[in-house]
Amino acid sequence: MRALKFLALFFLIINPIAAQEQEASGEVYRLIKLCSYCTCSEIPDVDGTHLVLNIQCSELDRIENFADLDKIEWPENPNGLKIAAAFEGLGLTTLGKLPPNSQVETLRFSNNAIKTYWPDPFNDVPNLKRLSFTQNELAELTPDLFTKVHALEELDLSFNKIGDLNPLDFKHLHHVKRLNLQSNLLKKIPVEALQPLALLEDLDLSKNGIHDLLLRRTESTTLKGIKRLNLSGNRIRSIVKDSFPEENNIELLDLSNNIIEVVEEDSLLSCTSLRELNLAQNNITFTFALPPTLQIAILKINTLYHWPKFPSGITFVDLSYNRLSALYDEDNVEFENLEILNIGGNQIKDFDIQKKLPKLYSLDLSYNLLADVPKSLSSQTFPKLEELRLDGNPIESIYFKNIIALKNLYMNDLNKLTVVEDKAFSNVIGRAGDESLFEQSCFSLFLSNCGSLMSIQEGAFDATTLCMLDISKNNLTKLSRTLLDWKSLTEGANLQHNPWHCSCELQWMLDDLLPQMYRANSRLLSELRCGSPRAYEGLRLVHWYNWTEQAMCSDDLSMRSGPYGTYMMEESREGLSKVTSLTLILGGCIILALLVAIALVVYLVKTRRRHRVRQAALNRKRQSAADAKNSNGTQKEQFSALNKA
Ligand SMILES: *[C@@H]1O[C@H](CO)[C@@H](O)[C@H](O)[C@H]1NC(C)=O
Ligand SMILES: *[C@@H]1O[C@H](CO)[C@@H](O)[C@H](O)[C@H]1NC(C)=O
Ligand SMILES: *[C@@H]1O[C@H](CO)[C@@H](O)[C@H](O)[C@H]1NC(C)=O
Ligand SMILES: *[C@@H]1O[C@H](CO)[C@@H](O)[C@H](O)[C@H]1NC(C)=O
Repeated sequence: MRALKFLALFFLIINPIAAQEQEASGEVYRLIKLCSYCTCSEIPDVDGTHLVLNIQCSELDRIENFADLDKIEWPENPNGLKIAAAFEGLGLTTLGKLPPNSQVETLRFSNNAIKTYWPDPFNDVPNLKRLSFTQNELAELTPDLFTKVHALEELDLSFNKIGDLNPLDFKHLHHVKRLNLQSNLLKKIPVEALQPLALLEDLDLSKNGIHDLLLRRTESTTLKGIKRLNLSGNRIRSIVKDSFPEENNIELLDLSNNIIEVVEEDSLLSCTSLRELNLAQNNITFTFALPPTLQIAILKINTLYHWPKFPSGITFVDLSYNRLSALYDEDNVEFENLEILNIGGNQIKDFDIQKKLPKLYSLDLSYNLLADVPKSLSSQTFPKLEELRLDGNPIESIYFKNIIALKNLYMNDLNKLTVVEDKAFSNVIGRAGDESLFEQSCFSLFLSNCGSLMSIQEGAFDATTLCMLDISKNNLTKLSRTLLDWKSLTEGANLQHNPWHCSCELQWMLDDLLPQMYRANSRLLSELRCGSPRAYEGLRLVHWYNWTEQAMCSDDLSMRSGPYGTYMMEESREGLSKVTSLTLILGGCIILALLVAIALVVYLVKTRRRHRVRQAALNRKRQSAADAKNSNGTQKEQFSALNKA
């Protein structure tokens, strides 16, 4: 051993160059040709304007000794295409210095375990534009990571363990427009570190531990330039006057999922370009002023008791799951542009609107305290309405007083509803699609999961046309054939999960509805079952499909072939498999009989053969006996001949 070491040392002293070479080629040094390990392809760029050379190395590619990526060899690129390379899920822990290439524009190291890096890893890829380190173990950055990446526009550092940023960490990133720091461990907004990013537009700081928002005092010009700021999922408690820089450019502000209780009255007014504000899932109780530019306001899941004053350009309001008990003050509100209004999950008892909402197409009033269908729902007040949700209200009786055109009407979960009376929906009409003016207009009704609903009167849909009817999961036992024009239901009827009383009164379902549904909506047949009489309980209606007799009108209980459970059809998803248990049993019997027959035949053949063999043996015996006799004869003759001789 010692001799060996000595020899090596000797060799080293004698020939240092050779030693170096040996060290290099022996263990580590072998350039890795990327395209022989990874997938290389020429694909169109994101905007589809030109081709890029895409190199994709993922955990599936067996790369030995990949180490720090400093030993890779970029592929030949005779056409001079831009290069996008991804090294994903390779278990890299250290990032080395990448070999020179001026075509590389995109690098992704997603989903590794990178914790450390050599200094200046990107110095020789000077035209890098997009860089992602998402899902790694970076805890601390140093100023020698992003050097010489002056062209960088997009930087993704999400899902790492960054707790703090140095003021100099990003000092070369003058052209970065998008920075993603989502899901790190930042405790505050890294104002100083962001300062060099003069062109930053998009900053994602969501899911960190940021607890305050006080940006006014900073001199930062960067923060004033940001257009989209995501602070969702942090620990921010309040929005105050000093929260935002004066005259900032924020257009989209996401502050959802914080623990904000207070938004000071004028605190958002410095956001003079704000178009979209998300304050969902906070603990905001009192209203505050909204900037006049606002178009989208998401305030769901808070504890607001009153309506904020929305600016006239507002198009989308989500105030669901708050504590509202009244409507907005119509004299003080401009909803000229409102397209979507969601006030579900509040405590509103009356929805009495006089002023027209000319652009509203979706209105959600579900889970409030409305005892009736609001009388103000009319096409005059809501000329563009397409979708109306009234689910979960304590409505006892349905009646639309005024004519209203809709595409979809949702009235599920009405626990107090027992009867749908004549003319209930007579004033609801379909809204014709814009494309064809002459198309017959119809609407879809969802009236499901109303546990007490026992009857729908025959005239409930008089003078109207449905495209789809969902009355599943109610307590219905009967339904009138003339309730509506069943053939016009282009999208079918869902009647499942009701305790239908399968008597002669419902025979029409088998005659008219079933064949139609069997062809078009067979999936809606699997839970369409009888609830009574007892003999038919649980039986699927599809059981009687194609019966020639009036199955339900017969008193003869033998219509049920076999004991409970054995007659039922297997679920016919495509309406194809129609193997009843009975046929199964029959099939089994036939197969058994066949088997027995085969066994019999085999037995017969065998015994016959044995018989033949035995016969043959017998014959042979006889023959040989005869032969013996004969030969005895000849022997005698021979004897006598001999004697003679
Ligand atoms: C903000 O971040 C959260 C969590 O990462 C994400 O769900 C949300 O979509 C983001 N908001 C916007 C407007 O992109
Ligand atoms: C938000 O308010 C609700 C009820 O008002 C309370 O139960 C909850 O603890 C509050 N959450 C926080 C984070 O303060
Ligand atoms: C459903 O209807 C039956 C009678 O057909 C009734 O006894 C039962 O109470 C009803 N269920 C509910 C939840 O109202
Ligand atoms: C039902 O009857 C029709 C016409 O009598 C026939 O064309 C069809 O094949 C039958 N379907 C099944 C599944 O028996």
